[in-house]
Amino acid sequence: MAALYREMDFELDPLFETIISDLMTQDYSVVDHFIDPKTVSLLRNSLLAHFEEDRFKKAAIGSKTNEVIAAAIRGDYILWIDEKVQTQVETLFFKRLNDLVAYLNRTCFLGILQTEFHYALYPTGTGYKRHLDSFQNDNKRKLSIAFYLNFEDWSQTDGGALALYLEGDQSEEQTILVNPIAGRMVIFESQKIPHEVLIAHRDRLSITGWLKTS
Ligand code: OGA
Ligand code: MN
Repeated sequence: MAALYREMDFELDPLFETIISDLMTQDYSVVDHFIDPKTVSLLRNSLLAHFEEDRFKKAAIGSKTNEVIAAAIRGDYILWIDEKVQTQVETLFFKRLNDLVAYLNRTCFLGILQTEFHYALYPTGTGYKRHLDSFQNDNKRKLSIAFYLNFEDWSQTDGGALALYLEGDQSEEQTILVNPIAGRMVIFESQKIPHEVLIAHRDRLSITGWLKTS
């Protein structure tokens, strides 16, 4: 991602600055403590409450795909978060997110006009096979975000890592594995980085979404 011009007449946010410089140099960024632990735990409770109320739907991968095949590709259940009907804690999440969006637009002229976010729950034994976050005839998704809400004792043996496949030198591919620990946020170029959710050995909780150009 290329920065055209950096305005400096507003307060610098160190975490946001890290995200921007990572995006410019490597097309992705992983930051911890994007939101404070108390809010993360409230968001987790909120996700679990919605799930118990049966409000989640099996995630799809395209309208014509056979359900059995779809389940082998992608095992998560999702619930879209309506920006207009948010709970108090969801409002906190969007406040922080919109601050980041405003910062990105101000400093990088990204032109993000729209966001869409959903809760996601990957039941034990599921993942999401290698893919790109773009649809045919839709290049509006600019940046993908995953924000993890797993329990604090999530460990590497619980699986569920996000694998980012980066173009390396001499066309060799480099794999970055990101453990989905609570409070961690991953942001990456939707159209550029193929990625995969490795099988989780325990229910895996997150908020996932996209920053779009329209
Ligand atoms: C997705 C996705 C990554 C993650 O929902 O498209 O790739 O770590 N999620 O949850
Ligand atoms: Mn994806």
